[in-house]
Amino acid sequence: MALRANLQPDQMLLRAPDEAGKLSWSEIFGNDHPVELEIGAGKGTFVLAIAQAKPEHNYIGIEWAKQYAEFAADRLRRHHAANARMVYGEATWWIRCHVPDASLAAVHVYFPDPWPKARHHKRRLVQPAFLKEVHRMLMPGGKLRLVTDHADYFTHMESVLNGQTDLRVVPFDSPVPLKADAPAGSIVGTNFERKYIAEGRTFHAIAAQKPGE
Ligand SMILES: C[S@@+](CC[C@H](N)C(=O)[O-])C[C@H]1O[C@@H](n2cnc3c(N)ncnc32)[C@H](O)[C@@H]1O
Repeated sequence: MALRANLQPDQMLLRAPDEAGKLSWSEIFGNDHPVELEIGAGKGTFVLAIAQAKPEHNYIGIEWAKQYAEFAADRLRRHHAANARMVYGEATWWIRCHVPDASLAAVHVYFPDPWPKARHHKRRLVQPAFLKEVHRMLMPGGKLRLVTDHADYFTHMESVLNGQTDLRVVPFDSPVPLKADAPAGSIVGTNFERKYIAEGRTFHAIAAQKPGE
């Protein structure tokens, strides 16, 4: 079911066949501005807000639900967010195929699917192999930011981060100025955050940095 009629996502959808290999951000955006990536971008609320707030950076959102990826890409087009693109695809595969080493200033993961059942924990995005990949993609000084409402997933995130030495855990600093109408308790201003604030949930945030700025 489409979220909006007559979507025109093509202009803002970044498509790359697997055989294209690692991509050139400067060719895609036409500049050498720092590039940031959001994994699980949903309807694109965060990518759009941060692209508007920080026009001197470029943004890529990856989303594997086609209707959301297309809705988000259409939204970027409607708002003339020339410094942002959406990818429709599975994030762990796409980043391995296409993101060059040391090419990202930040990776954002907000309210990732928590996979609460123990037998599904292996499906959680934040795993040791994922952190290796984040370390590969980040430039020195680049940051990974994670926010979740799920206490058990947060404990898992902390344990996976504390079990590696590539990235250094650092205080979580807000990546984007929040909109004036953002509800109290907002951290990053995503759709799920807004929904969970209305439900009275509390949030957990953690960040990690690649050393060597
Ligand atoms: C709980 S939603 C959060 C969406 C958004 N970050 C927010 O806070 O509103 C998680 C999103 O991640 C997407 N997602 C989950 N696993 C993914 C993957 N491996 N690759 C790309 N997208 C993924 C889901 O389709 C969903 O839209």
